[in-house]
Amino acid sequence: MQHVPNLRPLCEVEVTPDLRFSSGLFEFDRVLGGGLVEGGVVLLGGEPGIGKSTLSLQLSLALAVDKPVLYVTAEESEKQLFLRAQRLGLIPASLYILSESNIHVVLQAIHTLKPKIVILDSIQVVMDPEIPSVAGSVNQVRHCAAILINALKQVGASGIFIGHITKEGQLAGPKVLEHLVDVILYLEGERQQQYRILRCFKNRFHHTQDIGVFEMCETGLVGIKNPSAIFMDETSMGVPGAVIVATREGSRVFLVEVQALVVDSGYGMAKRTFLGVDPNRANLMIAAMEKIAGVRLSTKDVILNIVGGFRASEPAVDLGIVYAILSSTYDVALPKGFAVYGEVGLTGEIRGAPQSALRLQELMKMGFSGCILPKKDEEGLPGAGEFKRWAVGSLKDAITLFSKFK
Ligand SMILES: Nc1ncnc2c1ncn2[C@@H]1O[C@H](COP(=O)(O)OP(=O)(O)OP(=O)(O)O)[C@@H](O)[C@H]1O
Ligand SMILES: [Mg+2]
Repeated sequence: MQHVPNLRPLCEVEVTPDLRFSSGLFEFDRVLGGGLVEGGVVLLGGEPGIGKSTLSLQLSLALAVDKPVLYVTAEESEKQLFLRAQRLGLIPASLYILSESNIHVVLQAIHTLKPKIVILDSIQVVMDPEIPSVAGSVNQVRHCAAILINALKQVGASGIFIGHITKEGQLAGPKVLEHLVDVILYLEGERQQQYRILRCFKNRFHHTQDIGVFEMCETGLVGIKNPSAIFMDETSMGVPGAVIVATREGSRVFLVEVQALVVDSGYGMAKRTFLGVDPNRANLMIAAMEKIAGVRLSTKDVILNIVGGFRASEPAVDLGIVYAILSSTYDVALPKGFAVYGEVGLTGEIRGAPQSALRLQELMKMGFSGCILPKKDEEGLPGAGEFKRWAVGSLKDAITLFSKFK
């Protein structure tokens, strides 16, 4: 056989077993699937001011305890960075910083220092002066990312690149950037609220279902170990328009509060405002309620919100949207201590949701007294005795049940 370099059977590839290492922040490790991977590149995106630089500086401080770390800041001055680092924790001696936007200087620093981790804040601001386009342009971002990743491979370092996002919420720059990196993370949340959620959109080394929850404090982003009930407000339980939904994100259940406000439309066209819920699913629920269950919403403004800046990603929130809208429309609260979950189909059927047992366990643990759930999920579930279960098979069932609360 002709010799081709690097051609070999997959089973003969040699790997060092300890490829993963902890980032020092447990919620960050959880989202990645147990930590950073040696030689892997993570892209961290998020809206302006959400906390990307804070998070990456915290990671640098934690990682530099036992590894050389290079933090390249093309956006902030050394002084700004030092003051922030002082606020966030102790500054280890092996944390190096470089306040520079010229990619060639960055490459030089990487080859000289040979760090284990390189953090770049941000990929849109570094530039190659030999390329005749401005920093942040498609050409610059693609070019700089590619040569940086190459340099990281040469010295065996992992990378964390911060990326800006566009008004539409997408990572700015070329799509190819998303293919170049191994992991894509987004830091989300409402800037006015203290909670931040770290989500994974791509991971070459693990699934992308787990989310990380942090609280923005004076000392930076603090991971929350038991975040299940932070996106609900106990004072609004039993108030018309507020419904608690047991939603699942990866391996954890979150009890989130969906709030609805349904009012007569003052203008010609009914307004729809959706915060935290998927607008497509919210519109689908409104249409299904109108068509299948005869709830008149076409002349009403419908405003939906999830408390605490949480963004629901799974369809099991559907039934929460339905009950919140019903509750506000008829000014009738759901019984106190009750939660719901379930996906609603286009024909009004209530579909089962995965991990029902986990959802009910969490509700019982948090002292809830019952749950409205899909009929399909009811068999073999925990929750006998005190904990009440109301199973619904269709949108009509759900509305019939609601009329009993009036
Ligand atoms: N002293 C402080 N105490 C508490 N929170 C602070 C303090 N200083 C800054 N913050 C928080 O940090 C946030 C800014 O974080 P950071 O600069 O890391 O965001 P960023 O995502 O890097 O923004 P940009 O896109 O502008 O670079 C502020 O919105 C604020 O919530
Ligand atoms: Mg920043």
